[in-house]
Amino acid sequence: MDTVTANTRAFDQWIRNEFCQLNSELESLYWQQDDKANVENLGDDLKQTLTTEGNALITSLLAEGNTDEGFDNAFNLLGNVGLFMAACRRHEITEPTRETVSPLTEASALAMHIGASIGVTPRFATAHLTTHNSAINGVYKRFTDLPDEALFIDYNTKGILAYKRAADALLKIQPLGISHPITADLLKVAKQALQDVLDSNQILFERLDTDRFFYCVRPYYKPYRVGKEVYRGANAGDFAGINVIDMQLGLCFANEPSYSQMLVDKFLYMMPEDQTILRDCMRRPSLMDDFLAAKDAHRQQWYQENLQLFLDVCKLHGDTAIAHHNQLVEKYIRVPSMSMMQQHMDKVTASGPPLPALLDGLEKLRDKRCAAKRDDIRTRYQDIEDLKQTLDKR
Ligand code: HEM
Repeated sequence: MDTVTANTRAFDQWIRNEFCQLNSELESLYWQQDDKANVENLGDDLKQTLTTEGNALITSLLAEGNTDEGFDNAFNLLGNVGLFMAACRRHEITEPTRETVSPLTEASALAMHIGASIGVTPRFATAHLTTHNSAINGVYKRFTDLPDEALFIDYNTKGILAYKRAADALLKIQPLGISHPITADLLKVAKQALQDVLDSNQILFERLDTDRFFYCVRPYYKPYRVGKEVYRGANAGDFAGINVIDMQLGLCFANEPSYSQMLVDKFLYMMPEDQTILRDCMRRPSLMDDFLAAKDAHRQQWYQENLQLFLDVCKLHGDTAIAHHNQLVEKYIRVPSMSMMQQHMDKVTASGPPLPALLDGLEKLRDKRCAAKRDDIRTRYQDIEDLKQTLDKR
């Protein structure tokens, strides 16, 4: 952060300190109520301080104009503006259905200026809190000082980095080919990385408190308006690796409407380098198709060894999707939403669609990833069965 201006530094310090304290105090007020989802008529002085201080710092930054501090600093500043706007949304200082334009005029202008200039969405994205969130003296940026939020962010970061390790290994197979001796090493790296995703998600599932997550963490990830547009909430899936794995393995298809729709929608929520990786990957053939085309080589040792490893990777990828849906989404989203008071129901998901539609979409993704037998959507069930038949019986 050496090259940043005094205004940028002051705003970053405010986000790391006063901003976090104000949100934490508001959370403790909301938490004491019977209806923990209510944020109205509580802590008005704290909300006022949050808005006034944040707007003042942002107004100075806006007046400074484009100071060309490089990508990393611009991205960091966009994240800080985004955290402020997301907190205003969480405390209903702004509310996208109530307004047609964000009342945070200066913050919107700064976010749009930076977002458009570096090629990302003008809101805070998952990377701002996870993979690109620098720690100072051991503490990285957070909305609140709640241990539950730190746990959630830690395990999102672990999961994302592990998926990225798997994706990197699979991408390196492309120039080598499925029969290359080193392909086995890369498939083993992918296996280990996906096992790491499973293990870390399991710990999150065991340790994260449902109510704390649902009432005090998740609300900061809601959609909010920047200028005229509403931008969907951030989620842990906003990085290229997960889709690189889907497509490199051949479990999902870039030319299938529901899947390509998801890719199109998420491009600007990812870091520019991830956008490039994903674009490139969408044009490549899959390992599954390569193995299917090589079935005649089934007597070769390389085929037996590498196919077994490939099928192990597919199985593990499916297992991570099953655990995400059947454990995390079920315990932390579906079950608590059912008990939530009806008046708050329209505010549950981060991405905007009604909960049943969101759950249906996630379920279909899960079933593609685990190559489930379904006749209403395209899965690789039969292809995986055919490949298994070519393995030597032990
Ligand atoms: C998307 C819930 C943790 C990976 C989603 C979505 C929900 C959700 C509801 C749909 C998008 C939305 O609401 O806007 C949760 C919950 C978690 C959790 C409740 C923990 C308490 C994680 C972790 C990872 C992860 C640790 C690992 C990296 C993904 C991915 C997507 C996603 C990849 C995008 C959709 C997809 O490609 O499957 N999550 N998630 N999630 N999440 Fe999570």
